[in-house]
Amino acid sequence: MATVEKPKAGLEDTVATSSAICYLDGDRGVLAYCGYDIHDLAQKATFEEVCYLLWHRRLPTRAELGDLQSQLAAARPLPEAILRLMKTLPAGNGMDLLRTLTSALGHYDPDAADQSPQANDRKAVRLTAQIGSLVATLGRMNAGGGPIAPDPVLGHAANFLYMLTGERPGGLQTRAFDVALILHADHELNASTFAARVAAATLTDIHSTIVGAIGALKGPLHGGANADVMKLLLEVGADASPDKAEEVVRAKLARKEKIPGFGHRVYHTEDPRATHLRQMSKDLGQRAGQPGWFAMSQRIEQLVKTEKKLYANVDFYSASTYYVLGIAVDLFTPIFAVSRISGWTAHVLEQYANNRLIRPRAEYVGPEYPQRYIPVEAR
Ligand SMILES: CC(C)(COP(=O)(O)OP(=O)(O)OC[C@H]1O[C@@H](n2cnc3c(N)ncnc32)[C@H](O)[C@@H]1OP(=O)(O)O)[C@@H](O)C(=O)NCCC(=O)NCCS
Repeated sequence: MATVEKPKAGLEDTVATSSAICYLDGDRGVLAYCGYDIHDLAQKATFEEVCYLLWHRRLPTRAELGDLQSQLAAARPLPEAILRLMKTLPAGNGMDLLRTLTSALGHYDPDAADQSPQANDRKAVRLTAQIGSLVATLGRMNAGGGPIAPDPVLGHAANFLYMLTGERPGGLQTRAFDVALILHADHELNASTFAARVAAATLTDIHSTIVGAIGALKGPLHGGANADVMKLLLEVGADASPDKAEEVVRAKLARKEKIPGFGHRVYHTEDPRATHLRQMSKDLGQRAGQPGWFAMSQRIEQLVKTEKKLYANVDFYSASTYYVLGIAVDLFTPIFAVSRISGWTAHVLEQYANNRLIRPRAEYVGPEYPQRYIPVEAR
């Protein structure tokens, strides 16, 4: 067999494709979508503008943005059959439900049989709207409520919170959630996006690529970490002191356990998304009269930085941010998908536009070749 050059484990530092969507500099802590720094976008943009940017590689004009907002609003209502299916599925992990329901959406998509670039653009918009509706409705049903019809007047973030809670959110909550969506929208070749691109490279349909991405996002090393962070904080206790949090995490480190929400394959400095989420966690916690989660989180952050030289990643402070917004822990990772669907679809469309099958090689480390076949009766 010809020698195959082997990359580092986990494809670390391997450049696997070219992409015009996301710029990452892990040493300087830079994240930019199509050249626009994440700090600028977090301060000034809306999630809808970011969707347009990721899909079209430029910011929309006012008319283009209005058009996209209308398309998203029109695509929000879930097909009746999906609502019926939601009621029949057994209650369970939110990501499992989201995976199944996203797959089911493919059956009812009006462009299901059309793989043209125009149809795929429409499907990207539709999926972005529908995944928001799915996750909000899942949250509603988990809490024992019935589905709430979307409000076409509201923006994406406000409509999500409205469909989740049944109440029109205030400006501060809406902006906080909008910023969280902006921060999670894309992150280059993260595991779920890579999974989506590998699937897209076979020229399968867009729903299939997104189902694969949702499966990858669920894992605790990826999007599942935000729920694990909150479980850790809850394990420490709602009224616990930062000292108690330090004690619990110190014991975990001594047992060589990984602390969710820390470390990153690409960043060797502060994750620029964590900068915003830390501030949001602090501000929203104070306003909600629950400053304890932030205080505990901050102490854990200091400890893990001192002991392990690891920085907080996007998942660490998003946990306490969502919690004080009143969102159930089981929805944290599905909410990651509500945002990342924009990046996933942008990457899938980019892959379709300039495709070659992704088919790497493996270093063979099995039994020596050739082995002599021994019939079963002689083994
Ligand atoms: C994100 C992550 C998967 C990156 O993984 P990676 O680049 O493969 O790094 P590794 O898992 O090989 O970790 C390298 C070293 O740091 C340690 N480490 C990494 N993340 C750690 C964490 N969160 N807590 C404690 N130790 C950690 C590992 O134990 C390992 O130590 P060792 O060399 O003594 O064995 C990893 O940091 C992690 O599991 N973090 C927790 C889950 C999480 O927050 N995921 C969301 C990422 S946005």
